Amino acid sequence: MHNPAMAKLGLDWRYLACEVAPDELGQAIAGAKAMGFIGLNLTVPHKLLALDMIDELDESAESWGAVNTICFETKGEDGAWTPISQALGQAYGEVRAKGYNTDADGITLALQQDLGLDLAGLEVLFLGAGGAGRVAALKLAKEGAAELHLVNRTVAKAAELAKEITERYPATKVSVGYPENTSGAVNLVLNATSLGLKDGDALPLDESQFNLCHADAVFDMIYQPAETPLLAKAKAAGCRIANGLGMLLWQGAKALEIWTGQAAPVEVMRDALIAHIYGDE
Ligand code: ATR
Repeated sequence: MHNPAMAKLGLDWRYLACEVAPDELGQAIAGAKAMGFIGLNLTVPHKLLALDMIDELDESAESWGAVNTICFETKGEDGAWTPISQALGQAYGEVRAKGYNTDADGITLALQQDLGLDLAGLEVLFLGAGGAGRVAALKLAKEGAAELHLVNRTVAKAAELAKEITERYPATKVSVGYPENTSGAVNLVLNATSLGLKDGDALPLDESQFNLCHADAVFDMIYQPAETPLLAKAKAAGCRIANGLGMLLWQGAKALEIWTGQAAPVEVMRDALIAHIYGDE
């Protein structure tokens, strides 16, 4: 999605994928910095490892405890740091690596754009409490969700996450388990578990505990397959549905905006993602 976007912006840049062993991440970041790279994206397990390897953490990376985007910055004559893209073609001195996290914004933008949700005041049945689930649940609370019902196979992890949400965002009501009133409606069911990735996976939702006809919208973080069994059931129950492609898209759009200082051509990026991921289907 980045290469077509950069072409659309008229930038003579290239986005490349490189495999880096975890114990060589520090060298890889230093090498990119030395070679004048504009930025980097990191994926697991590097998102956590990078926290200790970069020069400056943006509030987003600090807040979510992970780095998925690095922007190399240069120090101007006035002492202010600016993205290296602003200094291309000029001589520049000191460079630093600044770490951001655009994953959390990716989640909220996908929910807003793909499901038309206003996050303030939302009641959510939240499935999963792993790495991605933790950030999404905290971000929903930060954005003013009214109530989160946390369900996870390992209940202790849901309880731990509930505690963290309550400590950080006390205005959001949090409980562990399904909504007690089984006929009670929720605005959103969000799947952050990996159930649905593989053929034959069980549903991430216990239908004896919650009937999808009580949900307005269902979001599945999985985007491959495009329609998981959960989304198929939700569609049949009349819910608005969206898969996780929007999360991938929006975290990328935010990263591109950090590197370029320009608005990302989101539709070009979405088309490229759809062609790349679902092109053969
Ligand atoms: P990610 O980084 O994608 O969030 P993760 O941290 O491994 O990956 O989290 C995976 C999530 O899927 C967890 O909520 C996990 O439940 P546990 O905390 O109990 O491990 C959930 N999950 C994975 N396999 C599952 C299964 N077979 N049944 C139920 N939940 C499952």
